[in-house]
Amino acid sequence: MPVAAGLALRQHAHRLDTAVGRRTGKTQGALTTRWEEFVDVVSALAAIRTAGSCVSAPQSAVSANPSPAASVEKGEARISVKGLGKRYGSLEVFRNIDFEVEAREIVAIVGPSGCGKTTLLRCIDGLLPHDVGEIRVGKELVTEPIAGVAMVFQHFGLFPWKTVYENVAYGLRMAGASKADIDRKVPVFIKMVGLAGFEKAFPYQMSGGMQQRCGLARALALEPSVLLMDEPFAAVDAQTREILQFELLRIWEERPTAMIFVTHSIEEAVLLGHRVIVLKGRPSSIHETITIDIAHPRTRDTLREPRFAELRERVWSTLMREAREAEFHLDR
Ligand SMILES: Nc1ncnc2c1ncn2[C@@H]1O[C@H](COP(=O)(O)OP(=O)(O)O)[C@@H](O)[C@H]1O
Ligand SMILES: [Mg+2]
Repeated sequence: MPVAAGLALRQHAHRLDTAVGRRTGKTQGALTTRWEEFVDVVSALAAIRTAGSCVSAPQSAVSANPSPAASVEKGEARISVKGLGKRYGSLEVFRNIDFEVEAREIVAIVGPSGCGKTTLLRCIDGLLPHDVGEIRVGKELVTEPIAGVAMVFQHFGLFPWKTVYENVAYGLRMAGASKADIDRKVPVFIKMVGLAGFEKAFPYQMSGGMQQRCGLARALALEPSVLLMDEPFAAVDAQTREILQFELLRIWEERPTAMIFVTHSIEEAVLLGHRVIVLKGRPSSIHETITIDIAHPRTRDTLREPRFAELRERVWSTLMREAREAEFHLDR
């Protein structure tokens, strides 16, 4: 699906959503989010294929250096966002967004609901056009989805009619990988996320945690150099969430990439991020960037370190004033 068609469908869905939300009082956004994710999955992978780029065919089952995206010199940013601004019609979502992510760095982004976190990730994935500024992945200017960038969605973005195996294979197939390559890689990534034995299961048969493991395997199978995670653990229960956070850290240690991890959980941001970016305001902009000077690999013990508590409090106090204002805000 061309990106323009995806964008038109998404805007139509959003208009419907707003209209229905007004009538029913249901949270705006909840009705079409899942559907929007399908559009994103298809748009991203189709655009990469149309651009003629395909997943490399390494000799081994999994290549030693994941990253079909534009190459990066040592010390150079893998993702670079400069002066970024985005509006939907009269709604200015964010402005003056500037940050970089190194090749082996996790940057967590926190901010209140509606501040534009998903919009920002979609712009970085090339699924939405931005209005001002520029985004680069490696040296490549992002104007549409590019190979080497993969996204993991809040509501998993899985196709309900496909099994785990087929969902993971889908990304590779769309990216133009050969059947032999798919047969070799899919089991490796299913095992990596702990889903071995569940290849034939359908999403409806699995818990939220298992579904998100599948979403993660689909993204990892593309061997991306950039992983964009949009509140990936927000839809699972607290215990599963904690398990998945440490699983993600384990996988990242095994295959480090540049990662942007969007969350509204302060604890999650501090646990996962090398740096935490706090988005605030209407339109939002970067209020503060906090370096999380806690050594990797992080474990459950990290949660008990005094420095962890200090940094969590710092991010919390930065966000708190905004949260109070948001709670008592009336839409006009
Ligand atoms: N396709 C769209 N068309 C119009 N407005 C949108 C669209 N997508 C999101 N919005 C609005 O933009 C703002 C930011 O949304 P979003 O990026 O989803 O925020 P977050 O992910 O931080 O909750 C919200 O006010 C939302 O209603
Ligand atoms: Mg969001």
